[in-house]
Amino acid sequence: MTESASGETEQAALHGSPFKAPTGTRDVLPPESGRWVAFVSLFAEHATRAGYGLIHSPMFEEIGVFRRMGEGTDVVRKEMYDFLDKGNRHLALRPEGTASVVRAFVQHRPPTPWKTWYATPSFRYERPQAGRYRQHHQVGVEAIGSADPDLDVEVIALLSDFYVALGLRQVELVINSMGTPADRRAYVERLRSFLVDRLGELAPEDREKVEAHPMRVLDSKRAQTVAAVADAPSILDGLSDEAVAHFDRVRSGLDSIGIGYRVEPRLVRGLDYYTHTTFEFRSGALDAAQNTIGGGGRYDGLVEALGGPPTPGIGFGSGIERVLLTCDAEGVFDVPPAGIDVFVVDVAGGEHARAITLELRRAGIRADRGFDRRSMKSQMKSADRSGAVWAVIIGDDEAATGTVILRDLRGEHGQERLARTELLDRLHKLL
Ligand code: HAM
Repeated sequence: MTESASGETEQAALHGSPFKAPTGTRDVLPPESGRWVAFVSLFAEHATRAGYGLIHSPMFEEIGVFRRMGEGTDVVRKEMYDFLDKGNRHLALRPEGTASVVRAFVQHRPPTPWKTWYATPSFRYERPQAGRYRQHHQVGVEAIGSADPDLDVEVIALLSDFYVALGLRQVELVINSMGTPADRRAYVERLRSFLVDRLGELAPEDREKVEAHPMRVLDSKRAQTVAAVADAPSILDGLSDEAVAHFDRVRSGLDSIGIGYRVEPRLVRGLDYYTHTTFEFRSGALDAAQNTIGGGGRYDGLVEALGGPPTPGIGFGSGIERVLLTCDAEGVFDVPPAGIDVFVVDVAGGEHARAITLELRRAGIRADRGFDRRSMKSQMKSADRSGAVWAVIIGDDEAATGTVILRDLRGEHGQERLARTELLDRLHKLL
């Protein structure tokens, strides 16, 4: 076998590419990708309607940006795609959306409250399985600069309404409060001493977390650990008056707008920056192991951790792949029909197809055409596959007489011949 310049073998080139999308990643192809476009547009509509503006920030940051989120979680300690660039800078691909938005806030200091939304890939070196990828995609919002519990309600309601708009019905909202940073610290101590007493009852893999990151033990899905922590102290029992008041306002706010929820004192979430309200939306239509379709909460210390002034913040992220799996499971939010209205079939050389498709597109009509001077049969097959409702057909006769044939591909109206100059008007009436 000989090597080509790019290092591929000729053998491989002869027998198809040796390359596949990397483990834990997937290609999203048409027509499925049409659903992604519709999904992100619907999310954009909900977010902009509530005053959130789109933020694009770099896909990679100095690794410190992510380390400042707290080193207690696997996401930061073990799963980051980090690398040295050619200038020897230590960078990492974003494992989630919040840290970059907060870094941008500290850098640009926009007026508050600063409300942004995003749709972004996120990278985590996790063990891939259904609903869990090494590159996944999130839509999310972040609202920075207000500690008002009504903002928590707004953010939760935004995501809840978005799921309703997708057509999802089997979604449960669970909420909790992590309290103030001091409440959180005190709870970690209480939990640690509880876990130390029961070390032998925990699953062996979870024992090492007790000393440095006891809250992560509550995240464990291992049956042995779940049983051992069933009577762990509840964070809600040790909240300060300030945290209780905040949480009460969030709950009464949700009650007043008819958003149902369950309080789950063990909901600690898989990232370290949360204070006060945390929440997750879980799907009853997915396997319990990966059933969290969206989650978020307050992070009142994160702006400071990234070098800004003390500033509260709250947001959520929701995994596009996981939500779409849920849509499949519930049979809602189908792949939209292909986007073509008219397919131009030209067996008189192709120049008419060139002119007509362009004219139709400029008039706002979605049009495609055949290429490569293929036979009538082959172009008609492409027309059927395109999903178009109408075919415009030009053969030698039509070319000679300045006419076209307009054929209904659904077979409802048959076909008619008309002057080329009347085509646009006719289509406007029909579509
Ligand atoms: P997270 O819970 O780590 O939170 O991720 C948010 C959502 O992304 C999850 O609920 C899940 O739907 C999806 N997700 C996470 N990891 C994967 C994966 N490996 N494969 C597929 N989907 C995944 C955050 O990332 C926070 N930044 C959310 C937030 C925003 N909190 C405050 N503001």
